[in-house]
Amino acid sequence: MYIVILAGGSGTRFWPLSRQHSPKQLMSVLGGKSMLQRTVERVLPLKPKRLLVVTNALQSRETARQLEEYQQAARIDIVAEPVGRNTAPAIGLAATIIAGHDPAGLMVVLPADHYIADEEGFRDSLRTAREAALNGYLVTLGITPTRPETGYGYIEADAELRGNGPYPVRRFVEKPSLDKALTFLAAGNFYWNSGMFVWRADVILDQILAHMPTLAARLAELTFTADVWAPEDLKPQIARLYQEVAPESIDFGVMEKADNVMVIPTNFGWSDVGSWNALPEVIPGDDDGNLAINTRQLVTIDATGCLVYGSDKVAALIGVRDLVVVDCPDALLVCPKERAQDVKKIVEELERQG
Ligand code: GDD
Ligand code: MG
Repeated sequence: MYIVILAGGSGTRFWPLSRQHSPKQLMSVLGGKSMLQRTVERVLPLKPKRLLVVTNALQSRETARQLEEYQQAARIDIVAEPVGRNTAPAIGLAATIIAGHDPAGLMVVLPADHYIADEEGFRDSLRTAREAALNGYLVTLGITPTRPETGYGYIEADAELRGNGPYPVRRFVEKPSLDKALTFLAAGNFYWNSGMFVWRADVILDQILAHMPTLAARLAELTFTADVWAPEDLKPQIARLYQEVAPESIDFGVMEKADNVMVIPTNFGWSDVGSWNALPEVIPGDDDGNLAINTRQLVTIDATGCLVYGSDKVAALIGVRDLVVVDCPDALLVCPKERAQDVKKIVEELERQG
């Protein structure tokens, strides 16, 4: 089993903690280890043959530094993209590298920045996915939806669902309108796409060839000498590839169009930790619902439902509710929880002001 970790996101909704050089996956968003380190630790018990981390060149040094401590346990290579082109080129490149060694190698694609509560349950889902993937299916891990979220992909499972799956997928709808999302939620046989996939390297490359022929043609031009894992060997070719390919997600590019998709409904407690507001959903707070991460101490009087993320200081809240307070050495954020999505706009405004 080869693990491919997608770690190229910019995480603008976690400003001021996350910046271009230090996005969400490299930060201690949950306290302690970074999201990327947690992602690696979660898969090590599966004894993967190798791990490939695909990240942006701006982040590759810090990525390498954070992964050093795991090199004893598993061989981890970093593939640096000169620019982000969304997930299809990143996945296509990783599949090409794996197939260069092991054409029918089993490939697990994982985002670097998700929270999972039950890690053994997560590994069990990957074990369940294995057989269908080896038989030539594109297997996705599905999450039971709890709200009409329009920022996710939806997977319609075929037939009556019994047992653990995998189940054939009738259709895959990436980021639907609210109307559609409401219908999907009511139907009962729809799952959120977690962005975690299991397939054989040759199978996903065939699907890229069928549905994204331009990307496939560029990938087919890559020629490997000697050790195809070594990123330095590939650097000039990767630079050319990324100049030539258009940005596209694997979801729009392949998953919506493929007819060999299977889903495994999962129940391991998942969040893609999309904004500051997602943290209180995954980490329990104190009796008043206040949550402090990376602060030395939190003292409150009549404060409820607040999140304080601090740079090792004592923090105090008096008479406030449902606030997000993020204190970094060079920036401070204060906003109501329900406006946490707007942090993105602050980043845009800061970029505009220069
Ligand atoms: N290497 C690399 N290069 N990684 C990337 C790039 C890129 O250009 N773009 C995104 N990623 C990584 C992100 O860091 C993240 O871990 C993952 O790929 C998914 O990208 P997002 O940008 O977060 O995708 P999304 O949230 O819009 O949608 C995807 O995830 C949802 C679940 O969180 C889709 O797969 C949806 O269908 C899914 O529901
Ligand atoms: Mg996402």
